[in-house]
Amino acid sequence: MTDPATLIADTPTRLLIDGRFVSGEAGRDFATLNPCTGEELARIAEAGPADVDRAVAAARAALDGPWGRFTPAQRQAVLLRLADLVERDFDDLALLDTLEMGRPITAARGMRDIVTRALRHFAGLATAIHGQTLGNSFPVDLMAMTLKEPIGVVAAIIPWNGPLFSAAWKIAPALAAGCSVVLKPAEDASLSPLRFGALCLEAGVPAGVVNIVTGAGATGAALTEHPGIDKISFTGSCETGQRIIAASAGTVKRVTMELGGKSPNIIFADADLSRAIPAAAMGVFNNAGQVCAAGTRLFVERAVYDEVVAGVAAFAESLRLGPSLSPDTQIGPLVSAKQFSRVDHYLDRGPAEGARLVTGGARVTEGVLATGHYVAPTVFADVTDDMAIAREEIFGPVASIFAFDTLDEVIERANATRFGLAGGVWTRDIGKAMAAVRRVRAGTLWVNHYFAMDPAVPFGGYKMSGFGREGGFEHVESYLNTKSVWIRMD
Ligand code: NAI
Ligand code: MG
Repeated sequence: MTDPATLIADTPTRLLIDGRFVSGEAGRDFATLNPCTGEELARIAEAGPADVDRAVAAARAALDGPWGRFTPAQRQAVLLRLADLVERDFDDLALLDTLEMGRPITAARGMRDIVTRALRHFAGLATAIHGQTLGNSFPVDLMAMTLKEPIGVVAAIIPWNGPLFSAAWKIAPALAAGCSVVLKPAEDASLSPLRFGALCLEAGVPAGVVNIVTGAGATGAALTEHPGIDKISFTGSCETGQRIIAASAGTVKRVTMELGGKSPNIIFADADLSRAIPAAAMGVFNNAGQVCAAGTRLFVERAVYDEVVAGVAAFAESLRLGPSLSPDTQIGPLVSAKQFSRVDHYLDRGPAEGARLVTGGARVTEGVLATGHYVAPTVFADVTDDMAIAREEIFGPVASIFAFDTLDEVIERANATRFGLAGGVWTRDIGKAMAAVRRVRAGTLWVNHYFAMDPAVPFGGYKMSGFGREGGFEHVESYLNTKSVWIRMD
């Protein structure tokens, strides 16, 4: 493993604007902390409005310059080179995420396949972009066709829970489509996105095509209000998403919103519990629960309710909570003190509202864990639909388990949420599975599985979990404009 201090010393901490890493004009910076130790890892440049302006101008100039003349095959080649470089440096990129936001090192390295596959998938789509010729009934002989054009300058605003993955997943399809990008990483996780930016340059992405402005919400807000941005692609909380939608109205920007969730995971009594129990547990506890699609509302048919509650609790207790750099750690700390205080609020709220604490429920501070915000994987049983832990996104390792009796009942309760990101169904009866799949109002449903993701498969929300799809060809489409062309033939 690369020595962490050497790796950080080697990683850019300034803004990436027009192909160079530069300080912000106001010369301000902010600290990024290691959530395991509380220590400062690095100071990151904070972009103000003038820097955002420069980044947007560089992105526009790139579109009007050589990047706009790249053929699809050239864009593909550059993305394939980028994929090779990310693969080459993957262990270092993963280590940065581990150091900065606490994803355990083995899990962080386990994302190599999905990240590199996404880059290659979107590289492949660069040469698959196409319009149509359209039959029409105009009285004179006119041919109609559509051209697909890059939408322009994209603002990509990402959260801290999967920084490298999110940066790659947003930037690659935008470049495949021929757009240029200004990326705003989350203030808790800037390092792997900045290093990814350096790899873009090394891969031959021309100056100005990928710009990175680091900073907190104000930096993001400056981007969303900027008239030079054509499209905003956002992943994060519902509340920030709502603010961005409002800001986008000023210049009628296109927006894609990947927001939060409170996803139902439904276990019927005939399910293979030897699979359902561990998957349901990891459907909540993965990444210490800091996952948008987490299956945090676990509905269990009454006949197997006690068995599943006991099984999920036993699984939770078997998970190795520990420092993120230990290879055998399965659950690391929460990303920050701020995130801990949000989660801690719900650890108190659950029992106060009458939920039964089965396991966990508190911060763990033994030995080396004292310096980080480690929360024991927590299981609440006998949860009712009106409790705060049943309704609000906690974004921590907290499972709420509910008993149900009938399909109709569980569908109604599963849908009684403002969110609709994902859901799971566990049964050996395909008819029952498909009935549930059709009726749960969410953008992704897994049957006898949880969390499968692939760059070829669309992912996104119903209801207040957002709109637009990432993954699949729809993702590239979201970075394209359609131009209709009429040609008189006689
Ligand atoms: P957030 O949604 O505020 O942050 C996400 C990104 O948006 C960050 O890059 C942030 O700097 C930026 N941002 C913040 N305010 C902005 C504004 N007004 N305009 C433009 N960009 C802005 O999430 P935060 O504060 O880190 O976490 C709070 C809660 O949000 C979590 O507890 C969790 O419940 C939820 N969350 C959900 C995520 C998901 O993937 N669904 C990801 C991260 C957080
Ligand atoms: Mg941090």
